[in-house]
Order: sequence, then structure tokens, then C-alpha cells
Amino acid sequence: MRIVKNDKSKKTFCAVLTACALWASALASAASTIDAHITVAADKPGPKIDPNIYGHFVEHLGRGVYEGIWVGEDSPIPNVRGIRSDVVSALRKIRVPLVRWPGGCFAELYHWRDGIGPRDKRPRTVNSAWGDEPETNAFGTHAFMDFLEQIGAKAFLSVNVTTGTPGEAREWLHYMTEPAESALGAQRAANGHPEPFEVPFVGIGNETWGCGGNMTASYYADVYRAYVSALAAPGRRLIASDANSDDYDWTETLLEKALFRHTRSFMESAELAYISRWPQIDMVSIHFYTFAGNDWGKKSPTLGFSAGEWADSMLRTSRTDEMLQKHSAILDKYDPKKRIGISFSEWGAWWARDEKAPSNLFQQNTLRDAVIAGMTLNIFHNHADRVKMANIAQMINVLQSMILTRGKDMVLTPTYHVFDLYQVHQGATLLPTEVAADDYVSGAVALPALNVSASRDEKGVIHVSIVNIDPEREAAVSLALNGTKARSASARVLTAATMDAHNDFDAPERLVPSDLKGINVRGDNLKLKVPAKSVTVLKVQP
Ligand code: AHR
Repeated sequence: MRIVKNDKSKKTFCAVLTACALWASALASAASTIDAHITVAADKPGPKIDPNIYGHFVEHLGRGVYEGIWVGEDSPIPNVRGIRSDVVSALRKIRVPLVRWPGGCFAELYHWRDGIGPRDKRPRTVNSAWGDEPETNAFGTHAFMDFLEQIGAKAFLSVNVTTGTPGEAREWLHYMTEPAESALGAQRAANGHPEPFEVPFVGIGNETWGCGGNMTASYYADVYRAYVSALAAPGRRLIASDANSDDYDWTETLLEKALFRHTRSFMESAELAYISRWPQIDMVSIHFYTFAGNDWGKKSPTLGFSAGEWADSMLRTSRTDEMLQKHSAILDKYDPKKRIGISFSEWGAWWARDEKAPSNLFQQNTLRDAVIAGMTLNIFHNHADRVKMANIAQMINVLQSMILTRGKDMVLTPTYHVFDLYQVHQGATLLPTEVAADDYVSGAVALPALNVSASRDEKGVIHVSIVNIDPEREAAVSLALNGTKARSASARVLTAATMDAHNDFDAPERLVPSDLKGINVRGDNLKLKVPAKSVTVLKVQP
């Protein structure tokens, strides 16, 4: 029996920890059931869960943009101004807060002027970030912003620091955000959009240690500083490029060298405040992908994987928590007041390339992906004091997608359903939780079987997300509410008989959430059973 405290204060909610542990282990029963005790500290509300944690990522890659979003005005696929309507209505339903675009590695080769003006005059180029795929530039700035407007999301632009310049990035932002009276604003108006666009988030480079310029952290810190001079503007949040997973030195160097414009005392002198921007970094970013194990070269197949590969995937996903703890500890040193956030700008599962896949980095999405999504989002919630944004890679037809398309057909993936179930947490107040449960053990992997987060929404409704990562055993959960009582409760669950259960074009609704029956409510205590390999969202009406 292991006790996990999803609480920054690290104090146990049980009056006597050992008594709790003994009580919990006394519940341990036959191997076929996990005994679990969850405590939700409704009396100790934490920070708000930023809705932007539910952000997405769209890159020109495979059929992520072309076909996935853009079909063109003349397409027989129903569309509004070239943007397919089935995808738009599915995305509206899950309340997408923001979308990062145009990449990824593609962003480092992207020149925005190629994607504006009459389509028949735009240059046809090749996407050398992704195997020289043809790039028509039919989907450019205006189409992206139109897509965002149709789905109700905000823009997170990733600007080019490898083949672009601070000047080019500045002109792009001026083109987008200046009034139509300005020269660049007038160009935008001539291209059909007199009103300025809003661009609240700008990422300065993508993976600048790799495809984004092959830089050292120290060199990038200087590049970042130069881009801040060109791009800083009121209300615009600047995101520094991306520590590779557990590269803590990257974050440390960046904060040390790029956080302050001048010395702190110089900046804090009131007369000079107008030339200072403190901090210069609004968010630091992390990129981290899940595969089965830690070897990029040996990825697990999407379907037909083994129980060991399931376990290795869970282990790797669980490292998200450790990374957030360690990157946050570095931030705490430089920014104890927590003004700087973490943007988890790329996350998700990356499985082995399937030779028969219809396009680059297209992968099926199974129950394993759903469990990974549920677990990762819970981890983000539990770090809501620092994680202010995240972008799953990627939205459509690429890696861990929400949506798969085949011509006119569309399938919603198990990951989509997790985002749908979890949207109740967007903007809600985190409630700390404590979980005492048997471990899930498989070979050398031993992890807490249940991964949990809880929040309270504006109406006072409490939602508890419970992910059971054990593919064999259901969990008998006793849930205690500290500081409140439940009047009623209901739950929705996503599960299936097999680990690689999925939706496809012939069976698009094989895996959809259903009601979880048999919840027992008694004041401040609830009892429920969550199935093996499942994602459950419990709704408690106080
Ligand atoms: O999401 C696919 C690729 O993964 C992105 O282009 C890059 O940033 C990352 O390495």
C-alpha cells in the first residue's frame, strides 16, 4: 500500500498517518481488486486550474492541417471558408482554449509572408522538416485565425528563430495586431481582415536545442533576449523554448541568463520601470513524449502491444510529475512569487511508425492513449501553481490526436473523450487529494495504481478524476470528503476489455464514455468501483 499526496503542503490529511496506512492496508484483499482510499481536501482549496492546460498543437505535418482542418472552399466535404465543419463542431464541444501553430520543427522553416494574399499566388514550397512534403501555403495566417474563431480558441504562435529573424517575427505580429491605419495593418485589411487579430501567446523558437537552431542553452538565452526586444508588447505572453524533458540545466541557464533585462536593482527603480520588463520570460516550456520505455529508437507498436509495453508506457508517463517537480524547484529559486509559468508545449504518446499509415506520424489512438492523457492531465492539475499552459501533440491525424480523418469521414479518439470528460476541470479550483492504494506491479515496474486529481467548479460541484492504470484489476474506492458532504454523485467512465481497444472508421463508437453504476453516497463518504484500465470522472454535488 502506497500513499500519494497530491498536495503542495505535503501534510497528510489523516490525523495520524500511520493509522491511515494501517487502515488502508487492512483493506487489502484478493489480488483481483485494488483497495483504495482517496481523501479530497475540500476544505483546503488550491490554485485555479488554468483552462490553457487543455491547449492543443497543430503543425504542418502529414494530414494535421491539410485534410485534418483545411479542405478548401471547393471541397465536397462540408466546410466554412475551407475549414471542415465536422472537425470544428467536434472541437467546439471540448472547449479548446488555445492552439499552438505552425509547429514544431516546421515553424523554424516557416515564413509567414508565404501564407498571405491570394492563394493562387502563394509560393509552393516543400516541408523539409517533415520529409519534403509538398506545402501549398493554402493554410496561412488568416485561415489559422479563422479556424480559431470557428472553434472559439486563442492563438499561440511559434516564431522562427532558425531561418527567421527578430525583424521578420516582429513584422508578422505587427501584420496581425496593428490597426488597419498602419502599413502592415493595411496589408492585413487588404487581405480581408481589417480588425486586428489577437495573439496573446508567442513562443520564441521551437526545440532550439534541436531542429530550432541546434543551440546551446546559453546561446539561446541571448537569442531569446534579442527576440524580447523585438516582440514584447502589453498583454502578450512570451514563452521561452523548450527544455527537452529532464534537461534541468536548460531551464537553469535560461533563467539565469535571460530572465532579467538589467540587474534587478536597476529594474526595480521606479523611474526606469518604463524601459524594463520583468520578468522577461512569462513561461518556460517543456517538451516530453511518452513511449514504452525511454528509448526513442525502440518505440512500441500502436496496436497489439504487450502488457510489458503498457507498463513501460505508464512508467514513462508518470515521469511527467518528477519533471514538473524538478523544473518547478528551479523556478522557485528565481521566481518565488510564481509569476512565471510552465508551458508544457508538447506532450503525448509517440508510437512506432506504421509503414501502412496513410500519412506522416499518423497513429491509431487506443485505450492506452486515453489512460496516458488522463494521467498526464491529473499531473498537470496537481501542479496548477506552475503549469499554466500545455499543448497535446497533435490535434488531428498526427501522434496522439483528438480526431482522425479519412477523406470525408471523421473519428473521435479515446483521447478526445478524455478531454471531453475532463473539461469540467477547466478554470476550476484545485482540491488537494491523498490516495492510499495498492501498487500496480508488472515486471520491474511498480507504480501507484490510481492517479487522481480533484477540483471544485464555480457552482461548488466537485469533480474527481480517477485513472486506474492497472490493466487487470478493478479498484474498490472509498472516497472521503474533508470539509463538505455529498448530496448526490454520478460518474462517467471510459474503459474497454482490451488494452488496445480503439475507434476506427468502421466502428467509430466502440470506445465512448458510459455511466458508472453503483456509487454509494453517505454524507462525507462515497464508495465506488472503478474498472481496470479506465478513466473515470466523478461528479459530487455537495
Ligand atoms: O510533434 C512532432 C515534433 O516533435 C515537433 O515538430 C517537434 O517540436 C518535436 O520534436
